[in-house]
Amino acid sequence: MIILVVGASGATGQQLVEQLLIQGHTVKAIVRSPESLPESWKNNTQLQIISASILDLSNKEMSDHVSDCDAIASCLGHSMNWKGIYGEPRKLVTDATHKLCNAIEANKPESPIKYVLMNTTGNRNRDLSEPISFAQKCVIGLLRLLLPPQVDNEKAADYLRTQVGQNNQFIEWAAVRPDGLINENQVTNYEIHASPTRSAIFNAGKTSRINVGHFMANIISDDDLWNTWKGQMPVIYNKSS
Ligand SMILES: NC(=O)c1ccc[n+]([C@@H]2O[C@H](COP(=O)([O-])OP(=O)(O)OC[C@H]3O[C@@H](n4cnc5c(N)ncnc54)[C@H](OP(=O)(O)O)[C@@H]3O)[C@@H](O)[C@H]2O)c1
Repeated sequence: MIILVVGASGATGQQLVEQLLIQGHTVKAIVRSPESLPESWKNNTQLQIISASILDLSNKEMSDHVSDCDAIASCLGHSMNWKGIYGEPRKLVTDATHKLCNAIEANKPESPIKYVLMNTTGNRNRDLSEPISFAQKCVIGLLRLLLPPQVDNEKAADYLRTQVGQNNQFIEWAAVRPDGLINENQVTNYEIHASPTRSAIFNAGKTSRINVGHFMANIISDDDLWNTWKGQMPVIYNKSS
């Protein structure tokens, strides 16, 4: 398959690209600073680096980039500094999702393109009943007021859920929700649930970035897994957490 990855330079994005390459796919990665990418990527013929800032691409450029892709995966996230959290673009993840989905639709592909969004357990799947405590509701409400990236993550998943929807002719989607991200060198056992089984605020579990990359690569590659999770927001925890 040919898979376009955005946010490929990030801590999770790099793990996803590695997993896709291990599985033998061709990867196209849109990155702002190619010089910071791993040395091993630079001469890899399975990997095409597109040097651009995603939101600066024109609609035509974007539809050209996605025209030969079977799947798109986003590991975009705001840099954890003042400018990344409070500066522009405040709706990085949502606007990129919107732009990429518009590009897919403009190409009118013969069969649906898979769109996998990295999201968060701090967001609820409003298609399901996912009850949270009053205290957690208050904290999430506060985070929404104080942290624009929280709202951005919520709006990006809402866009897929409500605008792309469940019966789109051109796009199928899944929003993968890790809990507290950690770094590990190896894929370990992990579990996938339709909804959180613990509180993202008061009892957060751990999810290693490499496991997120592994699961995102697997749902793209494996049609049975895709059919299990498409149109949903699977939650991923490391097994030991
Ligand atoms: N921290 C947690 O515990 C946790 C838990 C669950 C979910 N999440 C979510 O997981 C996502 C990714 O996490 P991560 O740790 O892998 O993130 P990360 O390492 O910070 O990677 C973020 C990626 O987004 C890109 N990016 C940032 N600002 C950009 C901009 N203005 N234009 C274009 N690209 C931009 C970065 O590109 P550059 O390399 O060019 O900066 C990088 O590729 C985030 O959305 C986060 O909210 C986090």
